[in-house]
Amino acid sequence: MKSTLDKTNEFLMPNYGKIGLEIISGKGAYVSTKDAQGKRKRCRDWLGGFAVNSLGHCHPDVVAAIIKQSKKLMHVSNLYATSPMAELAAKLVELTEDKNAKVFFCNDGTGANEAAAKLARIWAYEKYGPEKNTVVALMDGFHGRTMFSISLTGQKKMQKKFAPGVPGVKFVNLNDIGSLHRVVNDDVCAIIFETIQGEGGVNIMDQGFYNEIETLSQKYNFLRIVDEVQSGIGRTGRMFSYQQYENISHHGPEIITLAKALGGGLPIGAVIAKGNIGQSMLFGSHAATFGGNPVSCAAALAVLKVIEEYDLLNFAKQQGEYLMNILADFAGIHKDKIKQVRGEGLMIGIQMEEPYQAGDVVKAMYEKSVLIGTAGPQVVRFLPPLIVTKDQIDQTLKKFEQVIKRL
Ligand SMILES: Cc1ncc(COP(=O)(O)O)c(C=O)c1O
Repeated sequence: MKSTLDKTNEFLMPNYGKIGLEIISGKGAYVSTKDAQGKRKRCRDWLGGFAVNSLGHCHPDVVAAIIKQSKKLMHVSNLYATSPMAELAAKLVELTEDKNAKVFFCNDGTGANEAAAKLARIWAYEKYGPEKNTVVALMDGFHGRTMFSISLTGQKKMQKKFAPGVPGVKFVNLNDIGSLHRVVNDDVCAIIFETIQGEGGVNIMDQGFYNEIETLSQKYNFLRIVDEVQSGIGRTGRMFSYQQYENISHHGPEIITLAKALGGGLPIGAVIAKGNIGQSMLFGSHAATFGGNPVSCAAALAVLKVIEEYDLLNFAKQQGEYLMNILADFAGIHKDKIKQVRGEGLMIGIQMEEPYQAGDVVKAMYEKSVLIGTAGPQVVRFLPPLIVTKDQIDQTLKKFEQVIKRL
């Protein structure tokens, strides 16, 4: 009989590479795995489905909300209202601290960024005419794999064989104010950015660059789209990672995109647009059949409630500081192998020195029953759940140090 791994490798397209590990179940910070030899192992999950399982696996409150809602109503057209969708939209608006904000729901991160970029274009079209259509993005950014999102993704290797991309996209370098000045003009309708580039290597936008984007957005009348798909919903110890910046005038970026952790494991994406910008998404301009799915929205409401009830933003911030302090000590001791440790809250990247490869660290950590990820060939990525305990941090970092020593 063919195993799950055999069938996966035989019947699925090879875009994720050859799959060598099955995840059978998950609970809290742990998953049960089975490898190609049929060997079962319980692993600590510090990848979290790429920053999705922020409350750990199968959080009981999220599971309860899903069961309750799925017994009642699982799908209707967006021609109709449902309570979970309306409640979630109201909650997201409340979180932005702008009562005029409007929400669009879709199914994932790329869908959220597609919708945000389209919103910026239609907003500019309505307000200033068709010439103002350039979207600026950042090198090493990542915004998803559909055509507009991949065109906004500053990583050539991902775009190469899918050319031509969406026209009207220009790139600037992260934290390079000069390159921003060279590119931005009156034709720009939006700039899209991550405040911490996740896939691009856990690169943090500095305060000066963030401020300059804001200043230029006012001068040239363009929108700021902050991609919080990976960094949002508590990952950095704040609801939205852009809240790390000081002296924010207004209420931060005009458009926020969300997905990943919002659904607690169910697919959902969201665009929140402040002021009256969302009104530009005129009747018939955009849609998603499953957007605002009642079960996904019920799960998301449960996620936000758990974060609030257990004060998980502060908890994640504290755990992140604890983890980063230990890692900073490691980096000091193992200077020959660790080049830099960077991150915010529980979104952490460890840049390895040449010739050490992040992939080798991932493999060695799996041998020690810990799942982690990479962000490019040289950066090891830790995305533990927001509920991670100090004990779990100590134990995992002990294993990490053993791995580093043996490299
Ligand atoms: C910052 C960011 N934006 C967008 C995406 C795309 O999200 P999805 O895979 O849900 O389409 C990702 C996925 O890793 C991401 O990290």
